[in-house]
Amino acid sequence: MNKDIKEILISEEEITAITMDIADRINKDYEGKTLLLVGLLKGSLNFMAELMKYITIPCKIDFMAVSSYGNGTESTGRVNIVKDVSTSLEGVDVLIIEDIIDSGNTLSFILKYFKAKNCKSVEIATLLDKPSRRKVEVPVKYSGRAIEDLFVVGFGLDYAEYYRNLPYIGVLKESVYEME
Ligand code: IMP
Ligand code: MG
Repeated sequence: MNKDIKEILISEEEITAITMDIADRINKDYEGKTLLLVGLLKGSLNFMAELMKYITIPCKIDFMAVSSYGNGTESTGRVNIVKDVSTSLEGVDVLIIEDIIDSGNTLSFILKYFKAKNCKSVEIATLLDKPSRRKVEVPVKYSGRAIEDLFVVGFGLDYAEYYRNLPYIGVLKESVYEME
């Protein structure tokens, strides 16, 4: 285990099982349709790649990058689009893929943005959710696992851009961010 990790919260095997359950639901819900998966960079990279493996309906993928986080562990509330999707959205069923929902600021902004583009539908799939931290309500259709108010890294999630490469979701030792 990485020396900065206090405990493994969700193992690789558990992540796969959680992801397969979500994919099953998506395959049923969107039967006969085509789907555009929009991953929010960079954190959703691993979840999106894992989820896609188990999606059996026709789908396209695209990415969007927004910034609201600095290098700390708290969301700033301000959201800027750093990279937009390059796929036409009109009349399209969109599924936004997120790593973790915290305050809800990011997704509430993204939802408004997509709704203004005349998509046929927009829904959200997230691997992790911290419901106790919510400041803005967001309707999340597919949620992998609700977790407590802990700062977690790995499987795409970072702290100051590090630890995304860990294959599991782990709780970061407080000493790592309290030093800064
Ligand atoms: P929100 O806008 O406050 O909901 O923040 C969502 C974003 O904050 C996520 O996409 C993550 O990038 C980041 N985030 C929130 N909690 C964590 C965490 O525990 N570890 C790593 N990133 C997090
Ligand atoms: Mg993120």
